[in-house]
Amino acid sequence: MCGIIAYKGNRNANEVIIKGLKRLEYRGYDSWGIGIKNHEIKITKKLGKIGAVSLKDLNLENANIGIGHTRWATHGSVTEENAHPHLSKDKKIAVVHNGIIENYQQLKKFLQQIGIEFKSETDTEVIPQYISYLIKQGKTFEQATKETLNKIEGSFAIVAIKQDENTMIGARRGSPLVLGTNENEFFLASDVPAFLEYTKDVVYLDDDEIVVINNNLKIFNLKDNTELKKPKELINWTLEQAQKENYPHYMLKEINEQKFTVKNAIEQPPELIQKVTKMIKESFGVFFVGCGTSYHACVSSSYTFAHITKKHVNAVLASEFRNYENFLTDQTLIIAVSQSGETADLLDAVKTAKRKNCKIVSICNVVGSTLTRLADENIMMNSGPEICVLSTKTYTAQLAVLLLLAYGSADRLDYAKEKIQQASVAIPKIIDNNLEKLKELAKKLKDHKSIFLLGRDLAYPSALEGALKIKEVSYIHAEGFAGGELKHGTIALIEKGTPVIVFITKWTKQLILSNATEVKSRGAYIVGTNAEENELYDFFIKTPELGNANPIVMIIPIQILAYYLAIERGCDPDKPRNLAKSVTVK
Ligand code: F6R
Repeated sequence: MCGIIAYKGNRNANEVIIKGLKRLEYRGYDSWGIGIKNHEIKITKKLGKIGAVSLKDLNLENANIGIGHTRWATHGSVTEENAHPHLSKDKKIAVVHNGIIENYQQLKKFLQQIGIEFKSETDTEVIPQYISYLIKQGKTFEQATKETLNKIEGSFAIVAIKQDENTMIGARRGSPLVLGTNENEFFLASDVPAFLEYTKDVVYLDDDEIVVINNNLKIFNLKDNTELKKPKELINWTLEQAQKENYPHYMLKEINEQKFTVKNAIEQPPELIQKVTKMIKESFGVFFVGCGTSYHACVSSSYTFAHITKKHVNAVLASEFRNYENFLTDQTLIIAVSQSGETADLLDAVKTAKRKNCKIVSICNVVGSTLTRLADENIMMNSGPEICVLSTKTYTAQLAVLLLLAYGSADRLDYAKEKIQQASVAIPKIIDNNLEKLKELAKKLKDHKSIFLLGRDLAYPSALEGALKIKEVSYIHAEGFAGGELKHGTIALIEKGTPVIVFITKWTKQLILSNATEVKSRGAYIVGTNAEENELYDFFIKTPELGNANPIVMIIPIQILAYYLAIERGCDPDKPRNLAKSVTVK
């Protein structure tokens, strides 16, 4: 999960690439690098984030072809040598790569045995070295790249350039790569925001496709070398959506956007929702599958289905899905939930299900992503680009779509829309009424070693999601648990002053308040989120009572709290350590 941007055209490639890398930084921020081609290929690599770097300071010579990369380390530590682009030994081939080459050791050994030295610890370096080796055997750049990629096992999105040719080659298998085109200029990137400023005309490459760009553009199937005609698609995201505007961080911007994105999520073609709800009703076995935050939306949905419909559905972590393989038949329906549509564990689960002839419905935010290409039906979240590494607006969009499906399956679609509308109207009020209070709460909680979140029923997945938000952005240990589980272990961790955030809903009020009393009597500091105050609370956050739509509103204050905890602790909310936006490795 790294970011790639490459350019060929009449502009200064440096400018396009540095801007593009800044827009892709959410994909990896251990190190970055740029390679530009004039008479020779010049590489510049740096450790850390590209955010503050200015083109002027870099003092790069102008060029019309270049490749750039922002890295999230997998093979090899975070060093300049391991940063991309990687060069062949003769410095004639440069490559940027996203993905993992599983047989790199074998290829490396072969190349080393014939005297080729390696400079880095990465798997990527075998690509330029192998291309260069084949060119020396008499192959053209295009032939050598195709042959090298066919030798590789594993996943890749790559862009390669050659010192003495005006050719740029891109290819993918299992990692995203999208082609942007304009009159006489071409962009290759991991994600559209990297070049959105210049063009909205894109071609989504599929697995095992390679694009060769010189005076014209040709796309081939890597396996059988047939030439392909691929349609251009028009992107409907705007550049403003992909920029911070006046917000200090994308996280805060995206939290605030939820008043619109929750509504956008339910703007679905009626026939699509009808079709999917029919599939749900008619299937024998429904699995909601996702990772991280998307999984929490799946768990939440399993509760709403239990409340509203007569349909039993399962929520399964994508990385654990293979354990359910024996239950899968051609009657099974998989609802795959993913912001990016590129999460490796999820794609793996979907491929497992497809092998068993299951039907696949995706709930996804990225048009053209791998997931949307694998699925039989796609419900798009319509959230616009989510740049902050943490999911906020796409979580509530997922909840809204899933609520639509649950009520739709019970023939009560209009009721769902009404509830979701109410939630979206409530969001700006929750933010305005609680922002200053939550800043104060963050100041109070910032030095605690643990925060616990407690919920029952639908509020339980909200507690899980709230805990994930707090821990990934502020690095404070946070744990969400079901109220009833308290006395089965977690209560041992409650000491005087331990913060416990308790989600109270109408349906669970009595039971969860008695759990709150149990921790309070052990000295816990109780933060109650609820429609009404209670004397048990040391701190109160008001959120409206919206029944099955509660999860959409309950998470908003916790997202804000997590944001301010990060600020108070000096963490970067948009780029938490060790994380990147889409997890394309297993
Ligand atoms: C948490 C977060 C991750 C993602 C997870 C799945 O804030 O962003 O837990 O939810 O990596 O990603 P997608 O939804 O892209 O499949």
